[in-house]
Amino acid sequence: MRLREIGELVRWPSFEPDRHRRVLARCHDLDDLRVAARRRLPRPVFDYVDGAADEEISLRANRAAFQSWQFRPRVLRDIADPDLRVSVLGRELSVPFGLAPTGFARMIHPEGEVAVARATAGRGIPYGLSTTGTTTIEQLAATGHEELWFQLYVARDRKLVHALLDRAAASGFRALEVTVDTPVSGRRSRDLRAGLTLPPTLTARSLLGIAARPGYWLAALRNPALGFANVQPPDGAAYTTIAGITSLFDPSLTWDDIDDVRARWPGPLLIKGPLGPADAVRAASAGADGIHLSNHGGRQLDRCIPPVELIRPVREAVGEHITLVADSGIRHGADIAVAIARGADLCMVGRGYLYGLGAAGQAGVEHATDLLAAQLRRTLQLLGAASIAELRRCGDELVVPGDGQH
Ligand SMILES: Cc1cc2nc3c(=O)[nH]c(=O)nc-3n(C[C@H](O)[C@H](O)[C@H](O)COP(=O)(O)O)c2cc1C
Repeated sequence: MRLREIGELVRWPSFEPDRHRRVLARCHDLDDLRVAARRRLPRPVFDYVDGAADEEISLRANRAAFQSWQFRPRVLRDIADPDLRVSVLGRELSVPFGLAPTGFARMIHPEGEVAVARATAGRGIPYGLSTTGTTTIEQLAATGHEELWFQLYVARDRKLVHALLDRAAASGFRALEVTVDTPVSGRRSRDLRAGLTLPPTLTARSLLGIAARPGYWLAALRNPALGFANVQPPDGAAYTTIAGITSLFDPSLTWDDIDDVRARWPGPLLIKGPLGPADAVRAASAGADGIHLSNHGGRQLDRCIPPVELIRPVREAVGEHITLVADSGIRHGADIAVAIARGADLCMVGRGYLYGLGAAGQAGVEHATDLLAAQLRRTLQLLGAASIAELRRCGDELVVPGDGQH
């Protein structure tokens, strides 16, 4: 080669002044976003997001369950422009996934839930606000997001529950999810080891952490103090541990309490937990419009069956008229394709978008949802399915168990 030809091959790196864009340019999947979040967040905060209950068997099993399914593609079909739209609870959504309710988003990024809502507003992607959210119901509604869901932990104080439901309805929240897998809090070993408090307190250990993560702490200290935005401890006591917060909620909850919620909530109602077929039928007869199959991302009962394995039996038990949402372990668009093929209408993603939030705020959440949509689109194209509806219809032909029994 001549010197001039060699010169033409050389590419000098261009400097991107925006830190978020610089970070995101290197994130090609959700695992990369996870690594980027780990670099930015103090260790206890990262572990709060990343960790799970006890031995974290469910956390790993959720991933393994998705990965155990294989694709059996069809070829030479026109898949130039696959249709990712779905209709869920009477609304058309642009993609068959939404963002699951997660507590304490402002601990992960100062803009917290507002950043998540802005990242998905106007894009036909549902987002659930947690009872333990750090943004008020009204502030979140003010983002103009058209598909907000509210997630309810039923508090011992039923007046508080009714007030939350009334506020969410008045603010235009579209659907309500009642979480039923938290009669007591899961034992999150990483949080216990780190001595995590909410908000994180400035102990000798965390002061050392400031030196390691100055960007995180500067942003946190410049913003309003972190706290629960929608539920106040009744006696003004500080509920600073996960177990303390969960003690606000009622461990004696029964199906009768679902009747009370159903009577109060005017819109679509979903029950969120690892419901088997019998419980799912019970939920439907209690007036639920949907079941959100979830083991809380492995954060509650460790060794709990992965929800992806519940989709088909629950679908067979409740029929087609009940909306089925599935989460726990989704880290790639291909996982969403598996869940749809098994009979889900919609998937929810938890940690996947929180890694984006931790890495780069709103831009990070947008990046996470863009990656998932692009991965799902490519999966459909390579699988030979022209739409989500076709994937659902031909699920058993296109997605098969990885045990060779097909
Ligand atoms: C940091 C974090 C906080 C969560 N907080 C709540 C919550 O307040 N209410 C709830 O119903 N689920 C909560 N979840 C569970 C999620 O809604 C969802 O079920 C789970 O994250 C899905 O699994 P994945 O993280 O593997 O996607 C939380 C999950 C995480 C990771």
